[in-house]
This record gives sequence, structure tokens and C-alpha cells, in this order.
Amino acid sequence: MGTLRLGVLASHNGSNLAALHQASLLPDSDFTISVTISNNSSSGALAYARDHGVPTRHLSGHTHPDTKALDNAMRATLVEHGVDLVVTAGFMRKLGPIVRETFSSRIINIHPALLPAFGGVGFFGNRVHQAVLDSGDKISGPTVHLVDDEYDTGEIIAQSEVPVLPDDTVDTLAARVLAAEHILLPTVVRQLASGHQLHRNKN
Ligand code: GRF
Repeated sequence: MGTLRLGVLASHNGSNLAALHQASLLPDSDFTISVTISNNSSSGALAYARDHGVPTRHLSGHTHPDTKALDNAMRATLVEHGVDLVVTAGFMRKLGPIVRETFSSRIINIHPALLPAFGGVGFFGNRVHQAVLDSGDKISGPTVHLVDDEYDTGEIIAQSEVPVLPDDTVDTLAARVLAAEHILLPTVVRQLASGHQLHRNKN
């Protein structure tokens, strides 16, 4: 079956990219990060990838002002690097139809709350955690899901739970959920890499 090749898309810190990369180095992991793409040329994600020998590409509205050209460039980059599975982790752009079509059912995203609650348009970053605190829920945690045409509505693959504590602030809750993300996302990818649930890229 061969090693599962990931294309990781991230806009900011890239801590999930780092967690995935570290997991990929474990002897029993059968996946590798083939390319990291960011729309933010100064993102921590691109810096991490460069520092660790992972190929990088900056693709954005600056490099490609035309939306369709950007979508095509994104697809070409992923195909060129032999990507089997696209992982979006804090990627702040909606993927275009060309990438979604090419990698249909082979794009996963990590979201910092227990979907289907606290998802959809406007639910990103600290807004998610603020909404959880406002709701009074006692449990939160990350969700890994398939990406479809809408925000945060694709099939849920895995979730993990963390407590919401009475004295939590957005920052303390975000840190607890992020730590859980760093376990959940590599776990899901390791499972996908050792299974047969993905149709490999024939391009
Ligand atoms: C994570 O909380 C993820 O769930 C959300 O964006 C954040 C990305 O963090 N989609 P990082 O860039 O991986 O550190």
C-alpha cells in the first residue's frame, strides 16, 4: 500500500503540523508530510516545515489574485507532491471546488470543539471557545471531520473530550483543547495510514 502522503494546509502557528510531523517520525507510523501549504508567508507553519526539511509552498491571493488560478495552483501543488490525504489545520481559506473535487473524501479538518455544536461560519479561533464558555457546557474537545462544501459539516471521523473547568478563560480552555488536538489528529492519521479507507491519488 505504501506510505500515506499528506499535504498539510495551515495559516498560523502550525502546532498541529508539528504534532503530525513528530508523529510521522515514529517508527511505526506509515505516513509522511509531502508538502505544507500556507496562504500566510510568515506563518509558523511554513517556518516549522522549512526548519524540518518539509517542502513548502506559499499560495494566496497575493501569489494568485484570480480565485480559479489559486485553486488550480493548489491542486497542482498537491498532485505534484503525490498527496493522498489533505489535512487542513487552522487553514483560514475555504478550499476551492477544483481541490475539493480532486481530493473528494480525502480532505480532513480539525476543529476545536465538539461538532456539530460550535461550528459553521464565524466559528473559528477563540470565538469557538468563548461560545463554549457562554453555553455553560461542561465538556469540549476537538473534532476531526471530512471536509465538504460547507464549513464544519462533513462527516465526523473522531472526537476527544476535555473538561470545561469553572474558572476557565478562553485561553486556558483553548490550550487544553489544543493539547487534545495534538493527540487526536496524529492518531486519526495513523489509523487512516494503516487502513484502507482512502482511495489513493491516481493523478
Ligand atoms: C486549531 O485550534 C485548530 O483546531 C483550528 O485552528 C487551530 C490551529 O492551530 N482549526 P495550529 O496552527 O495548528 O497551532
